[in-house]
Amino acid sequence: MKRNNFVPALAALAFAVATLVASPAALAAPKRIELPADGVVLKPSALPGYAKAQAICAACHSAEYMQYQPPTAPRAYWDAMAKRMKVVFKAPIADDDIPLIVDYLVKTYGNEQSR
Ligand code: HEC
Repeated sequence: MKRNNFVPALAALAFAVATLVASPAALAAPKRIELPADGVVLKPSALPGYAKAQAICAACHSAEYMQYQPPTAPRAYWDAMAKRMKVVFKAPIADDDIPLIVDYLVKTYGNEQSR
């Protein structure tokens, strides 16, 4: 660094330090993150897997993930999906609940939809 650049650089550094020291409140200000509203909910159903899916599957991500699966997806696909959530992402799904949740999912979003 050339000598005539050193003094302004030092002055800028001193100013920065003085600013930080003078306003610790600015440094401690809480950071806020606004998340967009998640308007997508699981489709209501009388099937017993619905409440379980609501309690478990919507805990980590939006129901949009279910909505965007292919409507041609068969039971085995949803079964693999639920097991993947459990094994890979540690979703707290009881093994006994998997068939119920899969039944709800395939009849609501997969190839066993009645419409
Ligand atoms: C412990 C957290 C967690 C829970 C609980 C969970 N998931 Fe996921 N899920 C994830 C993560 C992480 C991803 C991948 C995220 C990404 O790619 O954005 C994912 C992705 C998905 C996808 C998108 C397709 C894919 O293969 O990535 C679907 C569909 C899905 N989950 C369905 C379910 C269903 C059905 C349940 C309930 C049985 C469930 N999830 C419960 C964490 C979870």
